[in-house]
Amino acid sequence: MIYFDQAASSFPKPKGVGKAMLHALNEIGANPGRGSHQSARNAASIIQETRERASRLFGCTDPKKALFYSNATTALNQAIKGFPWSRGDHIIATSFEHNSIRRPLEYIRKQKGITITYLQWNGDTEKFIIDLEDAVTSKTKLIAMTHASNVTGTILPIEKVSKVARRNSIKTLLDGSQTAGHIPINMVRQDIDMLVFPGHKGLLGPQGTGMLLVEGDIELEPIHHGGTGAYSELIGQPEQWPEKYESGTLNTPGIAGLNAALTLLEGRSMENVPRETLLAKQLLKGLKSIPGIVCYGPQEHESRMPIVAFNINDIPSQEIAMVLDTHYNIAVRAGLHCSPLGHETLNTTEQGAVRASIGMYNTEEEVNFFIKAIQEIVSAYEDL
Ligand code: ALA
Repeated sequence: MIYFDQAASSFPKPKGVGKAMLHALNEIGANPGRGSHQSARNAASIIQETRERASRLFGCTDPKKALFYSNATTALNQAIKGFPWSRGDHIIATSFEHNSIRRPLEYIRKQKGITITYLQWNGDTEKFIIDLEDAVTSKTKLIAMTHASNVTGTILPIEKVSKVARRNSIKTLLDGSQTAGHIPINMVRQDIDMLVFPGHKGLLGPQGTGMLLVEGDIELEPIHHGGTGAYSELIGQPEQWPEKYESGTLNTPGIAGLNAALTLLEGRSMENVPRETLLAKQLLKGLKSIPGIVCYGPQEHESRMPIVAFNINDIPSQEIAMVLDTHYNIAVRAGLHCSPLGHETLNTTEQGAVRASIGMYNTEEEVNFFIKAIQEIVSAYEDL
């Protein structure tokens, strides 16, 4: 199989990830923070080590504010629904948001009387920043933004956005779902107040893991309540981080796997353009040379994530994905990619798009095979 659905979940994982998970499951087993015996302490130390490693990697100065969730969506829900809103507050997001930001935003619009501006992106950073400045009002409290579109791979200019936010005393929430593990993110250097990422995409960790990292003082209201191991005597949720925001037993095997993945990431240089991005550019170039193909998002010379979305004439994207799967054993994702806003921007709401997303274990041969497969499909449709 050629697996070009890395933006949905990366595959394969480094061997150490599964090994660490099996170790946690088979050799440790106990509940972290729920007992003083040795196994519980061993489980707790995996959790603590991962908190510290993630904080170091992403520039969060207080590991107690590195919180575990079951995925990026749950973490985003905590950041958005738990934000200290007052009726009439305003939030700015973008036309690239995934439903994991858009739906919590629409929920708080109704429940808390918040107003939302979705900024359009047309490929021009300067225009985007001017639009952002124009959108800011005295009521704007948060800019919640994806770091890169999961549909087109477009990278949004977080440093420039943070500068506007800081000047106007607005907090920032960055969704690193498509960037964490691929390009450097540092909360202090890039002035990010809250960062969310899943463990199972570019970080190469397991599904069932995600984190919310908070930098500085933001008193979020917890969205879940329940057992926290420590502070059991309290009737209400404890005030301490991380307990306040982590009710219920954590996913120790998953976090152990994430820890192994983060350890590998620590040893990797992130200074150069990642090889998966170079492969994506090669793929884009090949696809663009085929008549009848429309590619979306940044061009080969621009910086982008390793995602290439395209269509073949007006053929439904799901049909192409099915042909790729059944005739070529190639996995891609088609349709709307949980980002109807992104597709509205591209004018592809009806057709969706075929999305090929590449990871660090994919190869040049696979890219060439894919381009050839698309050429054959285009020819086959012409002959119909
Ligand atoms: N958000 C994931 C994707 O883009 C699932 O496919």
